[in-house]
Amino acid sequence: MGIKNIEFSFEDALIPKRRIVKTAEKLKPEIRNVANATSKGYDDDRASINLPDDKNMLSKVEQVIRDNLQLKPEYLIVVGIGGSNLGTIAVHEAVLGKLYNQLTPSIKVLYADTVDSDLSNGIITLVKSALERDGNMLLNIVSKSGTTTETAANFEIFIALLKEYKKNYGKYVNVTTDRGSTLWDLALKRGFNVLEIPKKVGGRYSVFSSVGLFPLGLLGINIVQLLDGARSMRDTCINMNIEKNPAAMSAAIQYLHYKSGRNISDLFLFSNDLESLGKWHRQLMAESLGKEFNKKGEEVNIGITPTVSIGSTDLHSMAQLYLGGPYDKFTTFVRIRNSGSRITVPSVEGYSELVSGIHGKSLMDIMDATLEGTKAAFRSAERPFAEITLPDKSESTIGQLLQFKMIETIYLGYLLDVNPFDQPNVESYKRETRKILAEQN
Ligand code: PA5
Repeated sequence: MGIKNIEFSFEDALIPKRRIVKTAEKLKPEIRNVANATSKGYDDDRASINLPDDKNMLSKVEQVIRDNLQLKPEYLIVVGIGGSNLGTIAVHEAVLGKLYNQLTPSIKVLYADTVDSDLSNGIITLVKSALERDGNMLLNIVSKSGTTTETAANFEIFIALLKEYKKNYGKYVNVTTDRGSTLWDLALKRGFNVLEIPKKVGGRYSVFSSVGLFPLGLLGINIVQLLDGARSMRDTCINMNIEKNPAAMSAAIQYLHYKSGRNISDLFLFSNDLESLGKWHRQLMAESLGKEFNKKGEEVNIGITPTVSIGSTDLHSMAQLYLGGPYDKFTTFVRIRNSGSRITVPSVEGYSELVSGIHGKSLMDIMDATLEGTKAAFRSAERPFAEITLPDKSESTIGQLLQFKMIETIYLGYLLDVNPFDQPNVESYKRETRKILAEQN
């Protein structure tokens, strides 16, 4: 099946096009770096852009998926946090819908991503009901470092649960981590399936590695099409013809707004199923651009604050601030042209006088009218925005969107003169937590 391209509009950015292009032109050395990285495998910091071409990784993941499906699992528990699970949730909900677990799928998926005992207890209760009648659950532990406290704690909790019910529990456990990490060695020792994360692919850039591909493929998502979409967008975003390079244009616009005091970037998704994609983007932007030091080592305390809004829901919670509050935001609206299902508002006798003009219209028509109304209000309040139109929520479309956002972030890092691939301050909180816990022993 061919890829339907996603579309971009920067007409309402409230910055003259020649100024955007002039700033985007400054990205040319970095666009060249990204383009050159396509021939460097996993040796470059920008390594994640080569994941869609990695046939070995794909066939290994597909093999492990086939092996796991033989076990006829009822549940998949993904244990991981931040970059190790946000991309998976984003794609799962975008493609299969937020109500996937309730719509009687063959495998239900649950995410253990924090040390909240009520959450873990809820997951245990659900899974136990299957284990008690000899049903099966799969465990996917995802941790690049292998030393994240929350993940390690949940790992042991769910291993203990499996051991209680399954004699050969090792065959239900799949570990995704860096080659050579302590977790890698432990997984090999215990005979678990092990999937590798390439060293230079950081958590928030890892959705197209086995981090995302394994759980998503297990749920029946077409991971080949996801990668096809990503590859096609990567090729678009290394175009040296700046006006045809949406990642360069969008990065330039957000950079210019940041420089003018608009340091909040709101991703306003007009689709309920894209909420988690918004959270994935929040991490990508926050961790990549929020930095204490620039590349020269000077203290800059820089960053663009990413926020997530869902249309039309959040118009009823945030629009007052967006339209009447401070001029400190840039908004990117995301709309879906064809959301798959079609529900029409019926004319039920005796109920039609509440709001006129909705009867016989599809919910999608009403959503579109709401977005058009929002855009009109943004224009009259002189609030800048861009618009991304997705043809649908298919794998190849979502692959394009995620890849676009990752390359846009790399370009923003270049313009802001920060390293978009490290997260030294996250590491510092992790170290401190481990210290506190160790001291309590
Ligand atoms: O993007 C990142 O680097 C972080 O959000 C990590 O993904 C997160 O802290 C989890 O780390 P790890 O995968 O090492 O357990």
